[in-house]
Amino acid sequence: MARPGRVLISEAELQARIAELGQELARDYAQQTPILVGVLQGAFLFMADLVRATRIDLTTDFIGVSSYGGSRSSGQVRILSDLSLPIEGRDVVIVEDIVDTGLTLTYLKRTLDARHPRSLRVCVLVDKIERRKVDVAVDYVGFTIPNVFVIGYGFDHDGLYRNLPYVAVLDGI
Ligand code: IMP
Ligand code: MG
Repeated sequence: MARPGRVLISEAELQARIAELGQELARDYAQQTPILVGVLQGAFLFMADLVRATRIDLTTDFIGVSSYGGSRSSGQVRILSDLSLPIEGRDVVIVEDIVDTGLTLTYLKRTLDARHPRSLRVCVLVDKIERRKVDVAVDYVGFTIPNVFVIGYGFDHDGLYRNLPYVAVLDGI
């Protein structure tokens, strides 16, 4: 496969920052057993590396939300596959690939909050803050990036490029 796009965050930068995020989580949740909820599909690589960097007792679960074809979120969100465990009374951390407009995360937080977790926080790999349409609090942020369309390390364009070990900018979107 040709090398698509220009590298924005290298594999080494990703791994170094994720190691730091894991240490932050381990420190903040040392006295609890949190559930880390990975948002499918985009966060699967981040989730896999993050949990290995978080050396405390934790459990994992996944939630699948609708993504719309092409490159941008339409703002309408739907659950495609739900959590396998109840989260009532648990300390929950949503692990998401990116906050762009903020609509997906707002929906997810509202949906999970309605199940009465003891606490609910959000950890995102990438924050595209310029694009925000709705204000949504994010507790842990890996990288802040400008308004570019990224692929790789979980990020796709029409389903492709998730398997790149780095994050790249796809030009011409
Ligand atoms: P939202 O606009 O914050 O709701 O983001 C919704 C979703 O849009 C994200 O979870 C991604 O699936 C997708 N998305 C937003 N920006 C990008 C990007 O640069 N590359 C790949 N997917 C993106
Ligand atoms: Mg996503």
